[in-house]
Amino acid sequence: MAQIIDGKSIASEIRAGLKEDVTRLLQSGHRRPGLAVILVGENPASQAYVGSKVKACEEIGFYSSSDRLSADVPEEVLLNRIKDLNSDPLIDGILVQMPLPGHISEKKVIETIDYRKDVDGFHPVNAGKLVIGEPCFAPCTPAGILVLLEKSGNLPSGKHVVVVGRSNIVGKPVANLLIQKTRSANATVTICHTGTQNLSRFTRQADILIAAAGKPESITADMIQDGAVLIDVGINRVPDPNSKTGYRLTGDIDFAGCEPKCAAITPVPGGVGPMTIAMLMKNTFLSATGKIFY
Ligand code: GUN
Repeated sequence: MAQIIDGKSIASEIRAGLKEDVTRLLQSGHRRPGLAVILVGENPASQAYVGSKVKACEEIGFYSSSDRLSADVPEEVLLNRIKDLNSDPLIDGILVQMPLPGHISEKKVIETIDYRKDVDGFHPVNAGKLVIGEPCFAPCTPAGILVLLEKSGNLPSGKHVVVVGRSNIVGKPVANLLIQKTRSANATVTICHTGTQNLSRFTRQADILIAAAGKPESITADMIQDGAVLIDVGINRVPDPNSKTGYRLTGDIDFAGCEPKCAAITPVPGGVGPMTIAMLMKNTFLSATGKIFY
């Protein structure tokens, strides 16, 4: 029986710890950490993520502001709102939910956020600092994966980690985190992507496989080695006539097929997903207390 890595309970442990940290911070006379969340348009998945982020702030005791802008908002209006938040003394973190409508440049949006408030870790300054191993905001999903590995007793040090997917949000930053010479990383990393020929040649060599390609159930049992640790970053909506909503959520890994063969696996939902929000809260706390850049 494989170990099922319970991201939901690990994430709620982290959130409970942060709640205590906030209580202590307020007792010391510090103001509440503050997170600003901006949603553009009405993408249902994005609406759900933003709702969960605001709720997490309330639970932990953060101040939060949320802006819901219409899908046709001019780019300039959004950029000006970000500039206001950059200089708002109550705000420590700014998050603009991606993806954005086509007429808005994600690059411009990310670069307009003050990198000292970039709790998503998407700004080029943070991306660069991550590569050279300087203190920075690490992107939340990758940072959450390292915590999941550590807390579940599957430290990557000395192991071969194969990452499938090269996105700026997950694939590249998780690989960069994992090669750092730190206690929770120190792995040998291979990155596979859409240009990789014979993908399973690489995935079969993985001690730890991180699936982040956005292709539902595309990692199958024949592609993994016995005893591998499987981290599923995929959150895919696939049609399901038996479900009330008409769809079900599934990962990038064929869970039923791989579970009997692997040593450990993250479920979808309830694996990596909850960790993303927990790490966003952690980054916001670190920003408020100045522990990263000063
Ligand atoms: N869209 C999907 N994941 C993320 C994330 O971690 N941050 C933001 N801002 N948008 C996302």
